[in-house]
Amino acid sequence: MNIMVIGSGGREHALVKAIKKNPLAEKIYALPGNGGMSLDCECVNIKATDLDSIVDFAIGHKIDFAVVAPDDPLALGLVDRLHDAGIKCFGPTAKAARIEASKVFAKELMKEYSIPTARYETFCDPEKAMEYIDSQCAGKAANACSLVVKADGLALGKGVIICATREEAKKAIKDIMIDRAFGKSGERVVIEEYLEGPEVSILAFTDGETVVPLVSSMDHKRALDEDKGLNTGGMGAVAPNPYYTEEIAEICMRDIFMPTIRAMNARGATFRGCLYFGLMLTKDGPRVIEYNCRFGDPETQVVLPLLKSDLLDIMMAVEDSRLKDIEVEMSRECACCVIKASAGYPEAYEKGKLIEIGDTGEALVFHSGTRLENGRFYTNGGRVIGVTATAATLGDAVKSAYEAIDKISFDGAFCRRDIGAKALKAKGRQEGLWY
Ligand code: AMP
Ligand code: GLY
Repeated sequence: MNIMVIGSGGREHALVKAIKKNPLAEKIYALPGNGGMSLDCECVNIKATDLDSIVDFAIGHKIDFAVVAPDDPLALGLVDRLHDAGIKCFGPTAKAARIEASKVFAKELMKEYSIPTARYETFCDPEKAMEYIDSQCAGKAANACSLVVKADGLALGKGVIICATREEAKKAIKDIMIDRAFGKSGERVVIEEYLEGPEVSILAFTDGETVVPLVSSMDHKRALDEDKGLNTGGMGAVAPNPYYTEEIAEICMRDIFMPTIRAMNARGATFRGCLYFGLMLTKDGPRVIEYNCRFGDPETQVVLPLLKSDLLDIMMAVEDSRLKDIEVEMSRECACCVIKASAGYPEAYEKGKLIEIGDTGEALVFHSGTRLENGRFYTNGGRVIGVTATAATLGDAVKSAYEAIDKISFDGAFCRRDIGAKALKAKGRQEGLWY
């Protein structure tokens, strides 16, 4: 088979490495891929959002199966375009991708189908939004009014603003709706109640009928240790997530996963692909914080190494609506992924630094922002490179991941030193975990 993976991050590198294990995958292309991915497949310099060129390439290179990983091409309808050209794909249609591309769509879906989420209101008029903030904060101390303001559309992961005071909430409305910090994505906003509790990421395969959640994971979104610093795309992850017990998994299946799939079917937007549930485990039960219409990054880098079944077989079964016939088996091990980033990330950073990669042992090395030139790797992005280690215990996985990441260096490189620390602390309080 000729396979094509769209995207260029660590997530896509993990996908390619997993797909490669299937002997049917004769030729794998990544569009555009990155320096490190070119060791595992052929990278083709076509942007993930250049739909016309991607479709032409797929036809010209007799692609049998395409995997569309990032949100932008999914929201733009790449899967629809490839289907029109007779090419099988893994990933949702544009209609189904709205579950991530429009927060208003997602919130209305949850409200209509009683899927537990934060209480909210939607606004397209900034003045009405300001009045609502006043009404929510009335009678509360100036610094005791927490609200979350979210731009409706895609905003490179920056469209969510956590506001601790009335003034911060109003400033968020001004930034998003009046100054249009995220362009058209800020035409509408969602203002929602601030929830508290541990966060869990669940990646689930679904063909619109069957839902198969994979092992739970925990992202580390902030740039610095102890969850300080700015929000990033994710600085590392661990799996499984110790807060996500069997009991909570059952509740989520019953109250969140299946109702979401049914709700999408009822909307005529059947979801086929990987649906990502960003959950918060509040004292009142699990709540959906966000849906993503795709594999998470970096969650994919810890979840796929724990997948024992064949990824390509599962993805083809999803496309052909026969997921129920496929066995999806996870390893009972633990995984830890640590990412090294360029100084300055997630704000301005320099590119083009030479990357030295020493002996990373058994760890898997996933490239995201790298470029290959004359046999050497150079930095080419904010998140540059990550490693994933697996082990029988989370403690050992964390230790091995740090041993491996410390073998990779470049000018200005930094990584968090506490990936997995919260999970290790939590596990002491949990029963029934396998580590
Ligand atoms: P998102 O971009 O939707 O992933 O949101 C980014 C982060 O904002 C989430 O991972 C949460 O940590 C936080 N967040 C989003 N919504 C809420 C909420 N209602 N209450 C508290 N934190 C939230
Ligand atoms: N790790 C969160 C995301 O992929 O959006």
